[in-house]
Amino acid sequence: MKNEQIILKSYPQGMPTDENFEFRTVSVPDLQDEQVLVRTIYLSVDPYMRGRMSTAKSYVPPYQLNEVLKGYIVGEVVESKSDRLLVGDKVTGELGWQRYNAIDAKYVRKVDSTFAPLSSYLSVLGLTGLTAYFGLLDIGQPKEGETVVVSGAAGAVGMVVGQIAKIKGARVVGIAGSSSKIKYLEEELGFDATVNYKEVDNVRRALKEACPSGIDVYFDNVGGPISDAAISLLNDYARIPVCGAISAYNITSLKDDFGPRVQPTLIKTRALMKGFIVSDYASKFKQAASDLGKWLAEGKIKYQETVVEGFENVPNAFLGLFKGQNIGKQLVKVSE
Ligand SMILES: NC(=O)c1ccc[n+]([C@@H]2O[C@H](COP(=O)([O-])OP(=O)(O)OC[C@H]3O[C@@H](n4cnc5c(N)ncnc54)[C@H](OP(=O)(O)O)[C@@H]3O)[C@@H](O)[C@H]2O)c1
Repeated sequence: MKNEQIILKSYPQGMPTDENFEFRTVSVPDLQDEQVLVRTIYLSVDPYMRGRMSTAKSYVPPYQLNEVLKGYIVGEVVESKSDRLLVGDKVTGELGWQRYNAIDAKYVRKVDSTFAPLSSYLSVLGLTGLTAYFGLLDIGQPKEGETVVVSGAAGAVGMVVGQIAKIKGARVVGIAGSSSKIKYLEEELGFDATVNYKEVDNVRRALKEACPSGIDVYFDNVGGPISDAAISLLNDYARIPVCGAISAYNITSLKDDFGPRVQPTLIKTRALMKGFIVSDYASKFKQAASDLGKWLAEGKIKYQETVVEGFENVPNAFLGLFKGQNIGKQLVKVSE
């Protein structure tokens, strides 16, 4: 049986392009004992992957050139040499960007497709939902009546952050980059105010108007000038979970990413600014997934996904993240 794979051909300089990726066709390997063969159904593309397409030191090792790229996948077991999983089981795990993965059964986790759609295990019930949960609740700690601002608000992490903040009784302000995203946040998710950073003349002024009582929690998904504006509006004892800095992922020189120094603001406001990586909380994933599942079942959390069809469109779906093409989690549907 033939297997199609996507390998990293070259490390991108600046914004990645199609040229950095190559499709390769190989044979599906024979299964070893304890392995299962997983057919990819949904494949997740994520902004952090850009960081792995570079040799710079980070919290995860870089992707190697000419090797299959890796990310989270939901798929179906189509062959099993393990007692842990049966043919037909649906599983998720960090697997190769390929149509089939032969993998030791202990490296994937069975998911329940009767509880929630399969794709949700890569979005609201997957790592992006967990990122929103821990960053907001552990670091942000929103209290009733406080103002929570989230950037990248219509993205996979951002839309869950805003809704958890609403559950906790906060006033929620979302920053996003298109009118359809703004409409979704306001009309479907009940955000209290929004800022379309691509349409306003002055983000700080627009944010100040949207936050008449200042900002108590700023959940930072993007960094750059948007975060400079938010940090300038912090209240005393504000909290800033620093989740992502997508505005800087494709810069080629640090000189292209400078802004006001934050120390005076942090001292004056006694604010807490703390970076985190979702995997730091791995020991608590089970409880968090159960809370997210409960809120989902109760209709307290809604979610969107942008699903592109076809394995051949994986690189484009990934590149689209940096152009804001997605609302909610960006996924690729590879097979039925
Ligand atoms: N710390 C962790 O453990 C962890 C885990 C998961 C994700 N993250 C980070 O969290 C952030 C959100 O991730 P996600 O998976 O939810 O992605 P996402 O928000 O679903 O997708 C990326 C979005 O970023 C926005 N964007 C792109 N370029 C931008 C720029 N230059 N300035 C401002 N916004 C820009 C776009 O929305 P607009 O149309 O609104 O511009 C785009 O849709 C990313 O920075 C990611 O790296 C961190």
